[in-house]
Amino acid sequence: METSLDTHPGAPGSSSEVIVPRLDRRMQTLENDLEQILLTEEEIQRRIAEAGEQIARDYAGRDLILIGVLKGASVFMADLARAIDLPLEFDFMAVSSYGAATQTSGVVRILKDLDHEIAGRNVLLVEDIVDSGLTLSYLLKNLRTRKPATLEVCALLQKTGVQQVPLEVKYRLFEIPPVFVVGYGLDFAERFRNLPYVGTLRPEVYRDAI
Ligand code: IMP
Repeated sequence: METSLDTHPGAPGSSSEVIVPRLDRRMQTLENDLEQILLTEEEIQRRIAEAGEQIARDYAGRDLILIGVLKGASVFMADLARAIDLPLEFDFMAVSSYGAATQTSGVVRILKDLDHEIAGRNVLLVEDIVDSGLTLSYLLKNLRTRKPATLEVCALLQKTGVQQVPLEVKYRLFEIPPVFVVGYGLDFAERFRNLPYVGTLRPEVYRDAI
């Protein structure tokens, strides 16, 4: 991948310049495997700024803990947290997901549990994508047993018309068609998470992986 260099002024009063490497945002190596870009980096960042403002208004004056669902939500959570102008805490859970396949199994296994107690806390569960909704439904049931004061969901994406369980997603940034997508934290066989946007893969990428 190509990189270029940006120069930034050094500390005030110093004459030095700091050289910071800047990635080429086009991500050319990964783009060869993409069929279509569904959401651009700009669209994603604009919606995150809006959602962050909304969440900051809704939770003003209240304690807030964000719980990210690893690994998919990690990229989204990093940007979302920085768009919420409030004191807040982070925690993470890891659950089993698809592996190299693209269909949900409905079986959810906790691979990493929370580090902190959430009893009496205001919890915002941060998810990358709601597909069948089975993962989220399981997580919400599990977290409710720990008696948080409030429990809401913020999901970057929700696929339309495929949820198998009724779910309330308070903050949903985008609705997308029921297609398999990668990028911005979402993977296929652990790749493509580092794309700054969301897109679909060319069919031969799946074929080659089998
Ligand atoms: P659900 O239980 O069917 O709602 O699936 C939830 C999880 O499956 C998400 O948190 C993702 O990790 C994964 N997933 C669902 N759809 C996609 C997709 O289109 N691309 C990548 N991962 C997905």
